[in-house]
Amino acid sequence: MTIVKIVFHSGSGNTKALAEAVHKGSNQFADTELMEIKSNMITEGRFENKEFLNKLDKADAIIFGSPTYMGMVSGQMKCFLDATSERWMSQAWNSKLAAGFTTSLGLSGDKQSTLSYLVTFACQHGMIWISCDTPNSLFQGKSLEEATNRLSSNTGVMSQVNFGEEFKPTPGDLLTGEALGIRVAKLTKNFNK
Ligand SMILES: Cc1cc2nc3c(=O)[nH]c(=O)nc-3n(C[C@H](O)[C@H](O)[C@H](O)COP(=O)(O)O)c2cc1C
Repeated sequence: MTIVKIVFHSGSGNTKALAEAVHKGSNQFADTELMEIKSNMITEGRFENKEFLNKLDKADAIIFGSPTYMGMVSGQMKCFLDATSERWMSQAWNSKLAAGFTTSLGLSGDKQSTLSYLVTFACQHGMIWISCDTPNSLFQGKSLEEATNRLSSNTGVMSQVNFGEEFKPTPGDLLTGEALGIRVAKLTKNFNK
């Protein structure tokens, strides 16, 4: 069975909602686990959870999700990513597949910077990055709420969420996340044939 892990950090739940949508898609075609980075896994600025990292060693694909904080991944996500450097030394994750998603408040919000960094991170590990190929369905006349990939992001999935607890990623953004999950699971299955 193909194993896909979704590693994410979420401060106020928006990225978590998107992670759950990605999981919904991926889990249809692969054994998929949501793995949340929690602040208590970080001590004195270092991510310390061996079990968490060991689980990822067994994955065929890893999908990374983070809110955009100050134009980059969140500090918590970065602590986790830095903790993978031992794997980098031995290239233990070489040729695993990878993909990513992010949420932010601004329409742009510099989300591209977050996704571009995740691509760089994945490439350092020799991982193979999977793009987001979901069409922007604003072109088919869908509303901003319902449209898939309304932000026209192909590096990974982007969701813009308005400020306030009543707001979560739009139905269209969640569908885009789900489609990324499906795509990663299917491509990983074919890749490992
Ligand atoms: C410390 C901090 C920095 C942020 N920086 C940005 C930013 O650079 N661009 C942006 O559009 N939104 C920014 N935001 C808003 C978050 O990206 C947005 O609310 C996001 O959906 C939060 O995701 P979460 O609910 O998973 O934590 C920032 C929020 C915080 C708390």
